[in-house]
Amino acid sequence: MGDEVVDNDSHLSDNRTMYICICNQVTERDIQHAAAEGCSSLRQLKAQTGLGTQCGTCCQDGKEVLKCCMAENKAMNEAEPAL
Ligand code: FES
Repeated sequence: MGDEVVDNDSHLSDNRTMYICICNQVTERDIQHAAAEGCSSLRQLKAQTGLGTQCGTCCQDGKEVLKCCMAENKAMNEAEPAL
């Protein structure tokens, strides 16, 4: 008893369905898509997804997720071989 190992790697999956903005049902995936389409500021993110346009408590988290997505996109673009 107590020696059981629980596989708890579910947080490592990349399905990005976590809600960042509850008021407008904006997920990490929505922010990822917005970043891939060129969104690069909170103002653009608000316009594109509706994030932060009601209570506004999600704005800081939305900004952080957008920053991470932009960094990921940049890293992926740099990793692609030049033609
Ligand atoms: S949680 Fe995003 S506007 Fe309320």
